[in-house]
Amino acid sequence: MAYWTLDEIPWDRLDRSKIDLEILRLVKAASLVEYNGSAYAHHLCRIFDDDPEFQQCARRWGEEEVQHGRALARWAELADAEFDFDAAFRRFLAGYQVDFDCEFSRRGSRSGEMIARCMVEVGTSSYYSVLRDAAQEPVLKEICRRIAADEIRHYKLFYKNLTRCLERERVGFWYRLRVAAGRIVESEDDELAYAYYAANGTSEPYDRDRCRRAYARRAYALCREHHVAHGIPLILKTIGLRPYGSLVRPASWFAWELMRYRASRLAKADAA
Ligand SMILES: [Fe+2]
Ligand SMILES: [Fe+2]
Repeated sequence: MAYWTLDEIPWDRLDRSKIDLEILRLVKAASLVEYNGSAYAHHLCRIFDDDPEFQQCARRWGEEEVQHGRALARWAELADAEFDFDAAFRRFLAGYQVDFDCEFSRRGSRSGEMIARCMVEVGTSSYYSVLRDAAQEPVLKEICRRIAADEIRHYKLFYKNLTRCLERERVGFWYRLRVAAGRIVESEDDELAYAYYAANGTSEPYDRDRCRRAYARRAYALCREHHVAHGIPLILKTIGLRPYGSLVRPASWFAWELMRYRASRLAKADAA
């Protein structure tokens, strides 16, 4: 059971005059990735095959991610009558293929898998906060508010399981840092780029770099300093550092400067 249902969203308050077409493109892409949540839940159940307690949590988590996909898809279909979510999701599955049945984490350990999941949830929580603040359309604002709150709960779920895993696995600081940094870099990989392509379908063939840039340019442009700062304590905690220690300020500064640099590079490349 999810914490909220689609019936609680005030769909009748949709204000067409406030729909931003750039944000609509991002929402369509996000709906596909979120709706694929049950596949990730299955993968987690395979990795933790002897842990029925965590499997139950993972399945519930997967249901919540699927619900995020449903809510975003319904909003996108209301905002754009030509958007066919089912067809877009079929395109996404046909082009983005990962072995979710694999019983081993690609991070090399259960702890690594939990670190990667924590990073994803920090990232999505910040991302939906960005969309919530950028959107003028009230229904989308409300959906993003609810999703951002869910993603923080998801972070807590995976962090709790990480601490359990660390009791049994000996993984050091550098490994934790490597997995966490690697997952941040991966956020610009094929999944989001292909979702953007499948959701905003054109007749052109898939060009990974073009789609990755198109997606990132729109998303980064909406991000503000406080959105980046919000995730820093959670990231520090995930890699075993004090969440509110002396590193918070320099890490927040570095992350924001990096984001601004990436955003300006993407904007320049687009204008060229
Ligand atoms: Fe989600
Ligand atoms: Fe989540």
